[in-house]
Amino acid sequence: MKKHAPRILLLDSGVGGLSIYKSIKHLLPHIGVLYVGDNDALPYGEKSDDFILNRVIHITRHYELHYQPDLVVIACNTASTLALPDLRSATTIPIIGVVPAIKVAGEISRSRRIGLLATPATVERLYIDELQASFADDCNMLRVGSSHMVEMAEAKLSGDNLDMDLLKREIEPFLKNDIDTVVLGCTHFPLLHEELQSLGPNIHWIDSSTAIANRVQHLLKAQSLFCAPYPSSHTEIDSAEFTAEISDTLNKKLQQLGFSKIQDNRKELFNFNPNA
Ligand code: DGL
Repeated sequence: MKKHAPRILLLDSGVGGLSIYKSIKHLLPHIGVLYVGDNDALPYGEKSDDFILNRVIHITRHYELHYQPDLVVIACNTASTLALPDLRSATTIPIIGVVPAIKVAGEISRSRRIGLLATPATVERLYIDELQASFADDCNMLRVGSSHMVEMAEAKLSGDNLDMDLLKREIEPFLKNDIDTVVLGCTHFPLLHEELQSLGPNIHWIDSSTAIANRVQHLLKAQSLFCAPYPSSHTEIDSAEFTAEISDTLNKKLQQLGFSKIQDNRKELFNFNPNA
């Protein structure tokens, strides 16, 4: 039996991956998580493909060496819909990506008019065309790309008030077009679920977090790494690292969520040469 509980690396451009973190810890409370928020480069949804690809490979390889996770979760749709094949060839650790739950929308939509709410980069990806063709071919899918909502989710976790008029404007196309099911294709957006629900109470807002938690459990079992309970001396702590500064409010929230070690401003991360 492995001496320590499994440890996983969760990566996003900011706080969005915390929506995935919550679901994973709900299902697997004993595993250790290192959460990395690359907030120095936020928002990923407005960056070039090359920039995102290099950044995500760089960070993953850095922590492959320094944290040695059993599993990596790219808790970011913008990165996952672009970088998974290259990332898998660049590392030896199993990688789980988070991609929009278009399959679920195709299964449950009654009106056959569905929406995708994601970052400007994600809504343009070829990968989205492929998902729609495979799982929601008979649906009319309206795509809305929003970086304002990424900023809003960041602001919410830093204790700032939300501009509900702006949020309403972002989702207006869905409200006006008889859309009954909207896929939250950015991990930041489930953090605004309460507000979205109040503005669009008749819409089914779908996210991928529970499916990802199940996938993590499945892969840990497949690697024979899932054999809880562990003696308390062998459990892992949860840590969070951010590439730029974070607010005191976010720091407190992270502690409440269960992170016992939090570091920000980790610019030195990029002194590491992933090709060395
Ligand atoms: N949370 C990320 C996603 O799922 C990206 C947000 C951003 O940095 O633009 O796509």
